[in-house]
Parts: sequence; structure tokens; C-alpha cells
Amino acid sequence: MKIIIINGPNLNLLGKRENNIYGDKTFQEFFNELQNKFKDVELSYFQSNIEGELIDKIQEVGYSYDGIILNAAAYTHTSVGIGDTVKAISTPVIEVHISNTFSREEFRHHSFISPNAKGIVLGFGLQSYELALLSFRH
Ligand code: DQA
Repeated sequence: MKIIIINGPNLNLLGKRENNIYGDKTFQEFFNELQNKFKDVELSYFQSNIEGELIDKIQEVGYSYDGIILNAAAYTHTSVGIGDTVKAISTPVIEVHISNTFSREEFRHHSFISPNAKGIVLGFGLQSYELALLSFRH
């Protein structure tokens, strides 16, 4: 099973960014743990701060992979483009957020991804990614 985690802007700063919200771990540390835990899954990871690069990657994998775990970060709330890409592809997308976006500022309550996501996991810290991954396992 081929699954990719795609992270949007500023998620390369995990571990040193607003630790009270996003925790102390770098994503690479967490990703290594996840790979060890899910050895049966062909798991890959892509991060970009650039909207178009995220769209390119989603298009590239969106017709052949078994699943996409997408944390579009701030673009979740602004990007019609990423929302359209998620709608266009055939690979199911699970939308993920580390924080509970509904307990934060109002502008974080709207998502352009959600209407076309297979499911949404948010508010469980980095464990949100793991829960999303489990959902693909059945
Ligand atoms: C986030 C929530 C977004 O509102 C924010 O812009 C992020 C991270 C999360 O994982 O909690 O960068 O997607």
C-alpha cells in the first residue's frame, strides 16, 4: 500500500514553532517512528511552503497512490487551488491537522479541503497523522 504524507507551509518548522500548540518533535523524527511502526506500508513524505508545489505533488500521486494524508496548514483556509486539486484526483485524501482548528481563531474554521476529503482528523497532535494512516489499513 502506497501512502504519502503531504505537509504545507511552516510544517518544516515543527519542533521549534509554537511548541505549546505543535509540540517539541521535528516531523522527521516523528516520520521515522511512523515508518518503523508501519513497516507494511510504503510511506513517503513531502513538504513545501509553496502552494503550486503542493498542487503539483497532489496531481503527481493523485491517480496512482492508495492514499494521501494532507495537512495543507495555512493553505487549508485560503487555497481554492488545492481544494480543486483534491476534488480532481481519484486517490482518497484524509485531511489532517495537529491542532484543533475549531478551538482556535475563526479564520481557521473554514477549510477548502474538507468538502472533498474522505475524512478529517484533527486535534490529536502528531497522532492525527497516525490515526489517518490507520484508517487506510481497514
Ligand atoms: C495546522 C492548522 C492551521 O490552521 C495552521 O495554519 C497550520 C497548522 C495544524 O496542523 O494544526 O500551519 O494545519
